[in-house]
Amino acid sequence: MAVFPQMRLRRLRRTDWMRRMVAETRLDVSDLVLTTIVSDAGPDRVDIPSLPGVQRLSIKALVEQAQQAADLGIPALALFPNISQNQKSEDAAEAANPKGLVPEAVRAIKKAVPNIGVIVDVALDPYTSHGHDGLMEGETILNDPTVAMLSKVGAMLAEAGADIVAPSDMMDGRIEAVRQGLDDAGHTDVAILSYAAKFASGFYGPYRDAIGTSAALKGDKRTYQMNPANIDVALREVEMDLAEGADMVMVKPGMPYLDVIAAIKAEFARPTFAFQVSGEYAMMKAAGANGWLDYDRIMMESLMSFKRAGCDGILTYAAIEVAEQLNKSG
Ligand code: PBG
Repeated sequence: MAVFPQMRLRRLRRTDWMRRMVAETRLDVSDLVLTTIVSDAGPDRVDIPSLPGVQRLSIKALVEQAQQAADLGIPALALFPNISQNQKSEDAAEAANPKGLVPEAVRAIKKAVPNIGVIVDVALDPYTSHGHDGLMEGETILNDPTVAMLSKVGAMLAEAGADIVAPSDMMDGRIEAVRQGLDDAGHTDVAILSYAAKFASGFYGPYRDAIGTSAALKGDKRTYQMNPANIDVALREVEMDLAEGADMVMVKPGMPYLDVIAAIKAEFARPTFAFQVSGEYAMMKAAGANGWLDYDRIMMESLMSFKRAGCDGILTYAAIEVAEQLNKSG
């Protein structure tokens, strides 16, 4: 094997065309899933201070954004609701309301923009008065009653037209229950994207501001979301979710967990997604706004790292601006 000085690795880095020609990984608009926040109150667009560039949207504004995303070639969007305080309750009843904000938003998007995929979270946290992802008894998050409810919510969202449901609660056994709920209701073609390895993370802060759960949340989510110290358990979570019928799996947050993504892809070879969460996006935006880092460049670099780690796609708040950039340079 040739070694230096016969071999010089810099030969293939000399020019832009050469670097492009030998690139091992590519980022494409089809890799992006747009993360959106829909709100049931207030004006059409409301800025979110800790999530610069992202707005809470009315259903009307959301449909416009869905159209913009579809026009850019973004394959799908993920929908998260900001629910008014007076609709939240201990039992999260509003989560199962077939005339609620999310099902109405899904119907509106599917009608106006049929060529974009709609992914909806199946989770109770936007609807509970305490901000947790499960029903509570005292200080305890109840697993099985939560799972039973998620199963109903999943079927209701499929009925509204969701293409993919994404349980994000980290209860045990919920994938099987959601699959059963979908199948029993005749939605055998609706896919499940499981938040399989979701960590109890400090990076979710701005999202909780965006959906209005920061103030309400009592305690933390460490009894159901994963310990950031663990990777063996992440593989087990994925194994169980796949066995229960998940079509795709997700790791969340993204950038601090690239090792987890790479291990999952290597072990299971299934469609694997990362969620570049609110805190990842916010800190890049903040550094960019301060002139400390070049935002466009680090966003691209960060998204590329997900692809290199083995991701098939990335949920990101930056999907529209990134798609615009990719379409420009492509
Ligand atoms: C919970 C949920 C979370 C996010 C989406 N759904 C995390 C949490 O509040 O624990 C985070 C998304 C983000 O930070 O961008 N069902």
